[in-house]
Amino acid sequence: MTTTEHQAAAVDTETRTITLRVNGRDVSRTVETRTTLADFLRDDLDLVSVHLGCEHGVCGCCTILLDGESVRSCLMLAVQARGHEIETVESLSADQNALHPIQEAFAEEQGLQCGFCTPAMVLRCKEIIEDGKARTDDEVRHEISGILCRCTGYQNIVNAVQNASRKLGGKEAGA
Ligand code: FES
Ligand code: FES
Repeated sequence: MTTTEHQAAAVDTETRTITLRVNGRDVSRTVETRTTLADFLRDDLDLVSVHLGCEHGVCGCCTILLDGESVRSCLMLAVQARGHEIETVESLSADQNALHPIQEAFAEEQGLQCGFCTPAMVLRCKEIIEDGKARTDDEVRHEISGILCRCTGYQNIVNAVQNASRKLGGKEAGA
């Protein structure tokens, strides 16, 4: 093995211990520094609602909330989330047998077809309702435009966001 290869191998296996808050509980794990936040959430914490499509920041289906703001978890390293608060769809219903009002709205409006984009859409919906940015169909369309729905079910998704907004009284999107 050449010196460069030795250095590359050393970098590849470098680890850090990180502590962060995920879905309301403190989590501490040792991770490789190259591990993406998406892979960490899926593989280390078994939060498989975090879906991976393009893995380079285009499709948005890996969207999670970081300190209440949507981010693409395929573009972040797990070590960059140290000390932050993460929410995934798994956080929405404390009771496994009850849906959050946003999830109810998606079901009522048929705001999903294959469901692959749905966790990202639901989290983005939560964020924009909390931010008061779900007032009109056009505004919702603009705010969800960073998440691609391959099934092209956008009208029903917009209807679901509006339905959820009514259920939650506009800005009150917390569970
Ligand atoms: S998987 Fe992250 S943006 Fe596509
Ligand atoms: S419901 Fe299939 S990708 Fe959106």
